[in-house]
Amino acid sequence: MRIYILFLLILPFSILFGQEQSRPNYHFTPKSGWMNDPNGMIYKDGKFHLFFQHNPNDIVWGPMHWGHAISKDMIVWEEQKIALYPDSLGTIYSGSAVVDKNNTSGFGKNSLVAIYTNHSHEIEKTGSGLHETQSIAYSLDDGKSWIKYSDNPVISNPGIKDFRDPKVIWHEPTASWVMVLATLDCITFYNSKDLKKWQKAGEFGKNQGSHEGVWECPDLLKFKTDEGEKWVLIVSVNPGAPNTGSGTQYFIGDFDGHMFKSNQKGTKWLDYGPDNYAGVTFSNLNDRNVLMGWMSNWSYANQVPATTWRSGNTIARELKLVKIENQWELSSLPVKELNKYKRKVKIDRQNHDNFIDFDRISELKNSFELSFAQENVEDFQIIFKNKVGEKIIVGYDSKKKQYFIDRSNSGNVEFNKNFIKTAYAARISNSKQMSLRILIDKNSVELFADNGLTCLSSIYFNENAFDSVQIIHKNLQNNIDVKFYKIM
Ligand code: FRU
Repeated sequence: MRIYILFLLILPFSILFGQEQSRPNYHFTPKSGWMNDPNGMIYKDGKFHLFFQHNPNDIVWGPMHWGHAISKDMIVWEEQKIALYPDSLGTIYSGSAVVDKNNTSGFGKNSLVAIYTNHSHEIEKTGSGLHETQSIAYSLDDGKSWIKYSDNPVISNPGIKDFRDPKVIWHEPTASWVMVLATLDCITFYNSKDLKKWQKAGEFGKNQGSHEGVWECPDLLKFKTDEGEKWVLIVSVNPGAPNTGSGTQYFIGDFDGHMFKSNQKGTKWLDYGPDNYAGVTFSNLNDRNVLMGWMSNWSYANQVPATTWRSGNTIARELKLVKIENQWELSSLPVKELNKYKRKVKIDRQNHDNFIDFDRISELKNSFELSFAQENVEDFQIIFKNKVGEKIIVGYDSKKKQYFIDRSNSGNVEFNKNFIKTAYAARISNSKQMSLRILIDKNSVELFADNGLTCLSSIYFNENAFDSVQIIHKNLQNNIDVKFYKIM
């Protein structure tokens, strides 16, 4: 109650002067309260549904609900009423949703079925480690209202304290549902014919990938390639990311409906930046694999500057498998649906000896895309800045073969010592040319380099919009092409 009153008191002020100014323009944020992982993302009858980890009563993580939003294009979202509330089995942790086209569950043809983790804070206190179980709920009105299954949980806890985040897919060849579940330090696979009774099929990953932290939020994706079907297992890990804190790794391999195998050596990362975590893909989207992540990091998520709402999602990203020097790599690019919100803007360019200036970008109001291309692979720094000295640098260091985003002078960076200042990412492409797309929104920078082969996502908190861009480059003989697009 107290928190509601506080909300009501600070709301008008924050709208006028505060955080509303920095609310992202084309990234999803909750109207109020706390948000973390995207959940149950699904496409049905022309609409995209996003559910999300939500504490509606506070701006820090707390009793988890599933919030809900709907979009026609994955860019503009309309928040709906809360979908799932905590119950006697616990709060509602991350999970997924499916369309039950053949009524395998008996809940109804084309019903939406949500599969999620119940986390019991009471049982957790006992120290038994049995506090996480898997449950289901169904909706017969496209997600407006939900009925929890009377026989929950559908998977009880076998004695694993981190036992959560079920992602369910339909596997046509075996006519079965497959669940991938994060189970402490590996992914456990389950099969079911009806979404209610589940059999354990196997495990993956105890000796593969990054194990610095706990494994969370898995997803299993199928890709068609010219070498046949390939499968990708996505696994978030916290901590253990390349730039510290939370990050998402992936494994490329084969899946037979029961077991996943991968010969991959080393760890591959979906995004090297500090702020793309717990990403999973939309269900029921035909052959498209589209992922959205939570744009934050558990190392500082609860302390980022906020008044009435906290955290946003990444842009929806189309994932593709690309072969580079005999190795498959996962690339991510903003979905094509973003294009209809983009408008090319001409910004005056002044070439100097070893830098280029673009002034008067204030009209872009920190809601734009900058595309950059050079004919040779050489060092550069793209500096987004404003008159009060706030800046963000996106660059490339050819000696180290690394991209980077430096947010050390981006505004408020002092709220938590773990808010890392510069994030680095290896260049994966071997192309002789270099091109990148940078999406800027009110408090995020997303870099997609070399057609999305290297991605870096970083959030920032500044007072004023950037009003100019300077590109530092030693060799302006190198043909440098820069374009600006206003978004929205
Ligand atoms: C990942 C995560 C999940 C869990 C949820 C709780 O960010 O820790 O493993 O289900 O957040 O909010």
